[in-house]
Amino acid sequence: MRVSIERLKELIQTKLVKAGLPIDHADCVADVLVFADARGIHSHGAIRVEYYCERIDRGGINTKPQFTLQKTGPCTAVFNGDNGAGQVAAKKAMEGAISIAKESGIAMVGVKRISHSGALSYFVQQAAKEGMIGISVCQADPMAVPFGGTEPYYGTNPIAFAAPAQNGGMITFDMATTVKAWGKILDARSKNEPIPDTWAVDHEGNPTVDPFQVHGLLPVAGAKGFGLAMMVDILSGVLLGLPFGNRVTPLYGDLSQGRDLGQLHIVINPSSFTDVENFKQNISQTMNDLNHMKPAPGFNQVHYPGQRSDLREKESEQNGIEIVDDVYNYLISDMIHNNKYHNYNPFETQ
Ligand code: NAI
Repeated sequence: MRVSIERLKELIQTKLVKAGLPIDHADCVADVLVFADARGIHSHGAIRVEYYCERIDRGGINTKPQFTLQKTGPCTAVFNGDNGAGQVAAKKAMEGAISIAKESGIAMVGVKRISHSGALSYFVQQAAKEGMIGISVCQADPMAVPFGGTEPYYGTNPIAFAAPAQNGGMITFDMATTVKAWGKILDARSKNEPIPDTWAVDHEGNPTVDPFQVHGLLPVAGAKGFGLAMMVDILSGVLLGLPFGNRVTPLYGDLSQGRDLGQLHIVINPSSFTDVENFKQNISQTMNDLNHMKPAPGFNQVHYPGQRSDLREKESEQNGIEIVDDVYNYLISDMIHNNKYHNYNPFETQ
């Protein structure tokens, strides 16, 4: 089903309000989810609404959080999200980081006690829109085996980066530190199709092609991705005094409890280091250089990070977003949720 950006946002907002979220919070969550869908990141779009609604309904997302931003130094602050909607907390914390970086040249804002915040590119783009570099990392539930291990320890712990270019352009890099998201395994299960042996391992820690035998996701680039996931967990968890490693609460555990997740925003004001216009010009030059390189066999063009999503976003603005029928039917239904996610174990196959 193809729906316009405005219609999808309205459907999501209505559903979240029905589940109990105040309208301004619902508006923000809907904006972040539709941003993801419009950019082709469907794993972090409207597909998440039913899960959020169940968590709101069961009390695991605080609908009246007391947000606080406490400055802890000239460039540092801690934002307490009070287990409110993760998108709302992460967005407000980034606003705080931007205002600190405008004054002090750099900002590091720890965002603690939040629920799932979605696609991190949304938040780093807030900084790039203000002419600054944004970096954001966050914890996710334990699903990835460490390099050489058999049990999940870290989450898919994503890393995002955005830098401003000329004329409102920007470069956006946003990746999970696992080869594939869990949604890709579910997709293969639903189609009864094998998966490449580079995505996941079975109970013994052996690479598996059987999506029903998956016991843990593999980090990107072996030991290097494992190291990046560790870095993310330390920066967004250990540093903020939050549960870390496999102590991070599962996404689908007890939905009546807050998740206490952590995220870290870093904002760098280029004017503290160089001439801003020159900086933006050189970012534009980088994008242009990459686009004009000779593509390898099988490729039409070299894209800079985020470019394909930028193009998809433009296309979505014109022609709407293709949404899976099940998700659309849920959004237009009267149902708030179908008790699907409480204490659900994604590794179970029965
Ligand atoms: P992905 O694999 O689709 O893309 C990763 C990066 O590679 C992107 O910056 C993309 O622009 C770039 N890229 C991909 N193909 C390219 C090409 N052909 N040329 C140039 N660049 C290219 O993204 P992934 O790893 O599946 O992550 C998806 C989303 O999931 C992200 O938005 C991430 O923030 C989010 N996420 C959120 C979590 C949370 O707990 N909040 C946990 C894990 C992921």
